[in-house]
Amino acid sequence: MDDDDRCHPIFLIFMELIFATNNKHKLEEIQKLLSDKIKLLSLQDISFQEEIPEDYETLKENALQKARYIYDRYTLNCFADDTGLEIDFLNGSPGVYSARYAGENCSFDDNVNKVLEEMGNTNNRAARFRTVIALIIDQKEYFFEGVVEGEILRERTGNGGFGYDPIFKPIGFNESFAEMEMHKKNEISHRGLAAKKLVNFLNTL
Ligand code: IMP
Repeated sequence: MDDDDRCHPIFLIFMELIFATNNKHKLEEIQKLLSDKIKLLSLQDISFQEEIPEDYETLKENALQKARYIYDRYTLNCFADDTGLEIDFLNGSPGVYSARYAGENCSFDDNVNKVLEEMGNTNNRAARFRTVIALIIDQKEYFFEGVVEGEILRERTGNGGFGYDPIFKPIGFNESFAEMEMHKKNEISHRGLAAKKLVNFLNTL
């Protein structure tokens, strides 16, 4: 090996880690926070095209199911996330069913409409987003959770973001997630907080 070879990035990487997602944006966000020692791969990077089942009734079990599904097939260290919006007035719904609250193949708009309809004029509007990340490293399982408390607005506000962002206002802020700059949302969001815990752990390996 000559000096040029030693400078090649491959000698700086000591672990490849799969993020069981097809969402490039999520992957980039977490890769940015990681040291050069860890290289993240998406499902696309490993040519995985199946739908991963989510059969459970908790975020933790679903996140683990997704991570395990990939780990068992590729024996590569892996993590997966699962997120839900929990609304007190709706007894914690949509929770683990947040993606498909208004039915299979529904849109973000359908979900938001359903929530607004069910909330009506109630003053009990407390809610939170929760993300759980399940990580499997050499057969060992680790979990990281991020929560952001807030309230459900009475109508859509703002055009940015996705999902329930236009009707979610985090506590201590005067704007909905859909009105926030993305980097500001990432600083305080459920997923951002869970990702930071994951990254702190990975950077100690
Ligand atoms: P996932 O587990 O990240 O796929 O999230 C499940 C569902 O929760 C999504 O389909 C969205 O409806 C909702 N969701 C997740 N994260 C956010 C967010 O940051 N803002 C608004 N809605 C979200």
